[in-house]
Amino acid sequence: MLINGNAKIIGIIGDPIEHSKSPILHNYISDYKKINAVYVPFRVAPDSLADAVRGLRGLNVIGFNVTVPHKNKVIEYLDGISEEAGLIGAVNTVKNINGKLWGYNTDGDGFLRSFKEETGHSFSGQGVVIIGAGGAARAIAVKAALEGADKIVILNRTVDKAKELSDYINDNVSNCSSFAGIDYNDSKNAFMDCRIIINTTSVGMHPSIDKCPIEANSFLDGKHIVYDIIYNPAKTELLKVAEKKGSMAINGLGMLFYQGIYAYEKWMDIEFSQNEIEQFYSKFKKTVMEI
Ligand code: ATR
Repeated sequence: MLINGNAKIIGIIGDPIEHSKSPILHNYISDYKKINAVYVPFRVAPDSLADAVRGLRGLNVIGFNVTVPHKNKVIEYLDGISEEAGLIGAVNTVKNINGKLWGYNTDGDGFLRSFKEETGHSFSGQGVVIIGAGGAARAIAVKAALEGADKIVILNRTVDKAKELSDYINDNVSNCSSFAGIDYNDSKNAFMDCRIIINTTSVGMHPSIDKCPIEANSFLDGKHIVYDIIYNPAKTELLKVAEKKGSMAINGLGMLFYQGIYAYEKWMDIEFSQNEIEQFYSKFKKTVMEI
């Protein structure tokens, strides 16, 4: 589609940014829906964040995504944030409303939609193991707790960070008996008690594709639902073992897709039909696999 003088500008700030799949998704949607908008990647170094946000405000863009390493720090340059972004402590989507910049977090919703659609299960009353305790783990732990998980166990290489996240969930979101552990027995017990297993670490990501964040062979069995937020490779070592053990195994492409869908809907004040979403997803999957 031709970009003319009325084009709405959207973008993403991060560093690095070259690997981002978001421009592909958002520009495809604008093209398909014949919406006069263009989505641009901006590499913004950490010490340029304040200038970048001031610049985007001055240029009156309609909104932008925020990715690593700016998701926390960006909050201080915005006019306000949603309750969920506050709970997660991170913003991935900013919308310009009458010159004010409002921050949201669509990662948790994106994850939840993908999880529900691809597994057919919900979190209500479930035990959940979350591997990792970084930004993605926090967004997912908050969402799982808000969705009524009965128990959340955080396993992380740095135990203090697991404890901090676990205490945070118990103190601020729900008393879903969240706790942290890391040694073999803690982990084994957690896998025996919990059905849903989510990897939020980068372990197993391309190019270290033979790595697995846990001792999957001894921990997994057919009752588990394993979700790995990694999408490159499409099947991590963790997911390969999960399949071998008869567990359900889902990768993170759906989370990436839906967080983008929710951002786009927010910027444009529209809601896509299920039919459109299916169309976008199959195109997105195909494009991402090709590059
Ligand atoms: P994100 O925002 O993607 O969650 P992050 O905040 O940097 O990224 O968090 C990365 C998570 O992956 C952390 O839990 C990290 O463990 P530490 O808290 O011990 O650093 C985990 N992680 C990264 N590389 C890892 C590795 N090689 N082995 C185990 N855990 C790893």
